[in-house]
Amino acid sequence: MEKTFVCIKPDGVQRGLIGEIVKRFENRGFTLVAAKFMLVSRELAEKHYAEHVGKAFYNGLVNYITSGPVFAMVWEGEDVIKGVRQTVGATKPIEAAPGTIRHDFAAKMDRNLIHASDAIPTAEREIALWFRPEEMVEWTSITNPWVFGKNS
Ligand code: PPS
Repeated sequence: MEKTFVCIKPDGVQRGLIGEIVKRFENRGFTLVAAKFMLVSRELAEKHYAEHVGKAFYNGLVNYITSGPVFAMVWEGEDVIKGVRQTVGATKPIEAAPGTIRHDFAAKMDRNLIHASDAIPTAEREIALWFRPEEMVEWTSITNPWVFGKNS
Protein backbone atom coordinates (compact mmCIF):
# COMPACT_ATOMS: atom_id res chain seq x y z
CA MET A 1 0.00 0.00 0.00
CA GLU A 2 1.05 3.61 -0.57
CA LYS A 3 3.27 5.27 2.02
CA THR A 4 4.06 8.91 2.79
CA PHE A 5 6.57 10.81 4.89
CA VAL A 6 5.27 13.28 7.49
CA CYS A 7 7.26 15.47 9.88
CA ILE A 8 5.87 17.53 12.74
CA LYS A 9 8.23 20.50 12.73
CA PRO A 10 9.76 22.14 15.86
CA ASP A 11 6.81 24.54 16.35
CA GLY A 12 4.36 21.61 16.38
CA VAL A 13 6.47 19.81 18.98
CA GLN A 14 6.99 22.91 21.15
CA ARG A 15 3.28 23.68 21.10
CA GLY A 16 2.33 20.18 22.27
CA LEU A 17 0.52 19.24 19.06
CA ILE A 18 2.05 15.79 18.39
CA GLY A 19 -0.91 13.88 19.85
CA GLU A 20 -3.51 16.09 18.15
CA ILE A 21 -1.85 15.69 14.74
CA VAL A 22 -1.29 11.93 15.05
CA LYS A 23 -4.93 11.51 16.10
CA ARG A 24 -6.14 13.20 12.92
CA PHE A 25 -4.30 10.72 10.70
CA GLU A 26 -5.46 7.79 12.87
CA ASN A 27 -9.02 9.08 12.62
CA ARG A 28 -8.81 8.87 8.82
CA GLY A 29 -7.88 5.21 9.09
CA PHE A 30 -4.26 5.58 7.99
CA THR A 31 -1.66 3.27 9.54
CA LEU A 32 1.49 4.45 11.30
CA VAL A 33 4.42 2.32 10.11
CA ALA A 34 7.42 4.28 11.43
CA ALA A 35 8.06 7.13 13.86
CA LYS A 36 10.93 8.81 15.65
CA PHE A 37 11.45 11.83 17.87
CA MET A 38 14.72 13.44 16.87
CA LEU A 39 16.89 16.45 16.25
CA VAL A 40 17.53 17.15 12.57
CA SER A 41 21.14 17.65 11.53
CA ARG A 42 21.97 20.44 9.10
CA GLU A 43 23.13 17.77 6.64
CA LEU A 44 19.77 15.96 6.73
CA ALA A 45 17.83 19.25 6.48
CA GLU A 46 19.88 20.33 3.45
CA LYS A 47 19.29 16.98 1.72
CA HIS A 48 15.58 17.09 2.56
CA TYR A 49 15.13 20.60 1.12
CA ALA A 50 17.71 20.18 -1.70
CA GLU A 51 15.20 21.11 -4.42
CA HIS A 52 14.82 24.57 -2.83
CA VAL A 53 18.52 25.51 -2.81
CA GLY A 54 18.87 29.07 -4.11
CA LYS A 55 15.34 30.16 -3.22
CA ALA A 56 14.99 33.17 -0.93
CA PHE A 57 13.41 31.09 1.84
CA TYR A 58 15.88 28.16 1.69
CA ASN A 59 18.23 29.12 4.57
CA GLY A 60 15.31 30.06 6.79
CA LEU A 61 13.63 26.72 6.05
CA VAL A 62 16.78 24.79 7.05
CA ASN A 63 17.19 26.92 10.20
CA TYR A 64 13.53 26.32 11.10
CA ILE A 65 13.55 22.51 10.85
CA THR A 66 16.87 22.26 12.74
CA SER A 67 15.74 24.62 15.54
CA GLY A 68 14.38 21.93 17.89
CA PRO A 69 13.10 18.36 18.04
CA VAL A 70 10.76 17.05 15.35
CA PHE A 71 8.49 14.00 15.16
CA ALA A 72 9.14 12.15 11.90
CA MET A 73 6.69 9.52 10.70
CA VAL A 74 5.70 7.25 7.85
CA TRP A 75 1.98 6.66 7.26
CA GLU A 76 0.39 4.04 5.04
CA GLY A 77 -2.98 3.70 3.33
CA GLU A 78 -4.83 3.99 0.04
CA ASP A 79 -4.18 7.43 -1.46
CA VAL A 80 -2.36 8.32 1.75
CA ILE A 81 -0.20 11.00 0.07
CA LYS A 82 -3.23 12.96 -1.13
CA GLY A 83 -5.23 12.24 2.03
CA VAL A 84 -2.50 13.41 4.39
CA ARG A 85 -1.90 16.56 2.34
CA GLN A 86 -5.64 17.26 2.49
CA THR A 87 -5.67 16.88 6.28
CA VAL A 88 -2.53 19.05 6.57
CA GLY A 89 -4.01 21.91 4.49
CA ALA A 90 -2.47 24.52 2.19
CA THR A 91 1.18 25.56 2.68
CA LYS A 92 0.06 29.09 3.57
CA PRO A 93 -2.06 28.65 6.69
CA ILE A 94 -4.17 31.68 5.75
CA GLU A 95 -5.27 29.73 2.65
CA ALA A 96 -5.82 26.42 4.46
CA ALA A 97 -9.39 25.08 4.54
CA PRO A 98 -11.25 25.04 7.85
CA GLY A 99 -10.77 21.74 9.64
CA THR A 100 -7.24 21.23 8.33
CA ILE A 101 -4.26 21.17 10.70
CA ARG A 102 -2.76 24.37 9.31
CA HIS A 103 -6.07 26.20 9.43
CA ASP A 104 -6.82 25.08 12.94
CA PHE A 105 -3.39 25.61 14.50
CA ALA A 106 -1.12 27.75 12.30
CA ALA A 107 -1.01 31.41 11.29
CA LYS A 108 1.88 31.83 8.84
CA MET A 109 4.07 29.93 6.40
CA ASP A 110 7.24 30.32 8.50
CA ARG A 111 5.50 28.35 11.27
CA ASN A 112 3.26 25.96 9.32
CA LEU A 113 3.77 23.08 11.77
CA ILE A 114 4.16 20.09 9.51
CA HIS A 115 5.68 18.72 6.32
CA ALA A 116 4.10 15.99 4.17
CA SER A 117 5.35 14.47 0.90
CA ASP A 118 3.57 15.77 -2.19
CA ALA A 119 3.90 12.86 -4.67
CA ILE A 120 4.96 9.19 -4.89
CA PRO A 121 8.60 9.85 -5.99
CA THR A 122 8.98 12.50 -3.28
CA ALA A 123 7.57 10.16 -0.63
CA GLU A 124 9.94 7.37 -1.69
CA ARG A 125 12.95 9.71 -1.59
CA GLU A 126 12.00 11.24 1.77
CA ILE A 127 11.23 7.91 3.47
CA ALA A 128 14.61 6.54 2.34
CA LEU A 129 16.34 9.71 3.55
CA TRP A 130 14.78 9.77 7.03
CA PHE A 131 14.32 6.08 7.89
CA ARG A 132 16.48 2.97 7.66
CA PRO A 133 14.60 -0.10 6.33
CA GLU A 134 14.78 -1.78 9.77
CA GLU A 135 12.97 1.19 11.33
CA MET A 136 9.86 0.46 9.25
CA VAL A 137 7.23 -1.76 10.91
CA GLU A 138 5.26 -3.84 8.44
CA TRP A 139 1.87 -4.65 9.95
CA THR A 140 -1.77 -4.73 8.93
CA SER A 141 -4.34 -2.81 10.91
CA ILE A 142 -7.53 -4.75 11.68
CA THR A 143 -9.47 -1.64 10.66
CA ASN A 144 -8.26 -1.80 7.01
CA PRO A 145 -11.33 -3.66 5.63
CA TRP A 146 -13.58 -1.12 7.36
CA VAL A 147 -11.67 1.84 5.98
CA PHE A 148 -10.31 0.68 2.61
CA GLY A 149 -12.76 -2.17 1.88
CA LYS A 150 -14.35 -2.48 -1.56
CA ASN A 151 -17.91 -3.63 -2.13
CA SER A 152 -18.23 -6.66 -4.42
S1 PPS B 1 7.77 26.09 -3.96
O1 PPS B 1 8.42 27.39 -4.02
O2 PPS B 1 6.46 26.04 -4.63
O3 PPS B 1 8.64 25.01 -4.44
O4 PPS B 1 7.53 25.84 -2.43
P1 PPS B 1 6.52 24.82 -1.79
O5 PPS B 1 6.63 23.48 -2.44
O6 PPS B 1 5.17 25.44 -1.73
O7 PPS B 1 7.11 24.76 -0.35
C1 PPS B 1 8.27 24.04 -0.08
C2 PPS B 1 8.64 24.26 1.37
O8 PPS B 1 9.11 25.58 1.54
C3 PPS B 1 8.29 26.31 2.45
N1 PPS B 1 8.12 27.64 1.88
C4 PPS B 1 8.36 28.76 2.51
N2 PPS B 1 8.75 29.01 3.76
C5 PPS B 1 8.90 30.33 4.11
N3 PPS B 1 8.67 31.36 3.30
C6 PPS B 1 8.27 31.15 2.02
N4 PPS B 1 8.05 32.19 1.22
C7 PPS B 1 8.09 29.81 1.58
N5 PPS B 1 7.72 29.24 0.42
C8 PPS B 1 7.73 27.92 0.62
C9 PPS B 1 7.00 25.56 2.58
O9 PPS B 1 6.45 25.70 3.86
C10 PPS B 1 7.45 24.14 2.31
O10 PPS B 1 7.91 23.54 3.51
P2 PPS B 1 7.60 22.01 3.82
O11 PPS B 1 8.37 21.71 5.06
O12 PPS B 1 8.07 21.22 2.63
O13 PPS B 1 6.13 21.91 4.00
